[in-house]
Amino acid sequence: MVLIAPSMLSADFSALRKDLEEVEQAGADLIHWDIMDGHYVPNLTFGAGVVKQLRPYSKLPFDVHLMVTNPDDMISWFAEAGADIITVHAEVCPHLDRTLDVIRATGCQAGVSLNPSTPEDVLNYVLDKTDVILVMTVNPGFGGQVFLDSQLEKIRRIKAMIGDRDIKIEVDGGINPMTAAECISVGADILVAGTSVFAGRNFRKNIEALR
Ligand code: DX5
Ligand code: ZN
Repeated sequence: MVLIAPSMLSADFSALRKDLEEVEQAGADLIHWDIMDGHYVPNLTFGAGVVKQLRPYSKLPFDVHLMVTNPDDMISWFAEAGADIITVHAEVCPHLDRTLDVIRATGCQAGVSLNPSTPEDVLNYVLDKTDVILVMTVNPGFGGQVFLDSQLEKIRRIKAMIGDRDIKIEVDGGINPMTAAECISVGADILVAGTSVFAGRNFRKNIEALR
């Protein structure tokens, strides 16, 4: 069964705790934190202190997506803040193999994210130390963008590469009930959704529609 990970990027930033608690009650499976540094992507969001202060208010796994130029420097910050999954972008990890070891050594699951223009071959030699592969289905930086159909073929190929390994495929960007169905059909296991979960604040209905 597919897992739903609401992105806190679309929450009300003046009431993060309330929104966190409400999406959990509405049936979310994971909480997705989009960490943006204003360098790797043209937007700035949450630091580890924000994640840490909200950690006590949810029992769900915290799924931390690092959209930063220097993820190696920040792995320990977010692990200590209570992350369960830490995902880095392959494009900014010259020593991706080592970075994934460092994430796992913190006790977190290790995720690798690929931008829409990044080919899946960067995963070839790190699959045995990867727990989650996050396929960006928009260019990272903002919520509310249009899903890129070009990524469906990539998801299909990654699914085949994974074989019988215990690795989840996560999709992120422009996920709505229609694109969710397309992603599930090619192998997605986790759907990140900001706009479509928070729309009208009908969290339960929106989450059910994605499933
Ligand atoms: C984009 C982020 C996404 C974003 C998705 O850079 O990684 O997690 O919040 O937002 P929607 O669902 O609105 O496309
Ligand atoms: Zn994200």
